[in-house]
Amino acid sequence: MSDTDKRMAAEAAVAEVRDGMLVGLGTGSTAAHAIAAIGRRVADGLRIRAVATSVASADQARGLGIEVLDFAEMPHVDLTIDGADEIDGALLTVKGAGGAMLREKAVATASTRMVVIADGGKRVARIGAAKLPVEVLPFARAFVFATLRTMFDAVEARGGGAYLTDNGNLVADCLGWRGDAHALAAALQAIPGVVGHGLFLTEVDAAYIATDGIVATLERGG
Ligand code: A5P
Repeated sequence: MSDTDKRMAAEAAVAEVRDGMLVGLGTGSTAAHAIAAIGRRVADGLRIRAVATSVASADQARGLGIEVLDFAEMPHVDLTIDGADEIDGALLTVKGAGGAMLREKAVATASTRMVVIADGGKRVARIGAAKLPVEVLPFARAFVFATLRTMFDAVEARGGGAYLTDNGNLVADCLGWRGDAHALAAALQAIPGVVGHGLFLTEVDAAYIATDGIVATLERGG
């Protein structure tokens, strides 16, 4: 994992940003490089508006002079740039190590184009080794955690249960799943009390992945 590679992937993706766009800002250390790069372009005269997938990203963007709007008022986003924990050659992606996966998925799904940025360590032959974060309604905590434990080898409450997302929910970090990712996503979504999870199976349109200073691009269907 290299911070230079994260920055290079981020800067390559930010080259897609054009005047007039509503841009979705991701969350995490790689997305922070993208927000910094957008901030530099805004300082140079780029005219965009943004929505953010986390309070931290909104704060960073505003600090750089980027106009951040309330996503609750925005039915549509032009381009979203966000990080990933794992991504495979078919753009199946795991996200959420930063706990922002529910907002990230809403913004990604509202976007005409969603681009993932990552260092080469995130590129995998097959997703499934990273922790899969599941966002859990605190009201249904015991039931949901018991159900998840029948589906995964190991399930841990993030921060021992003290960690809460920007939405006020718990995160279950789930390890050890096999089989079809689409079936797993459907099974998770069907559990009352699961409000989101980190499997992004259809949302990602392209990825910029930097390895040892070289940025490779993956395009859906390309
Ligand atoms: C935030 O919840 C996550 O989805 C991040 O985008 C993801 O974990 C990648 O983060 P890094 O860029 O910090 O590795």
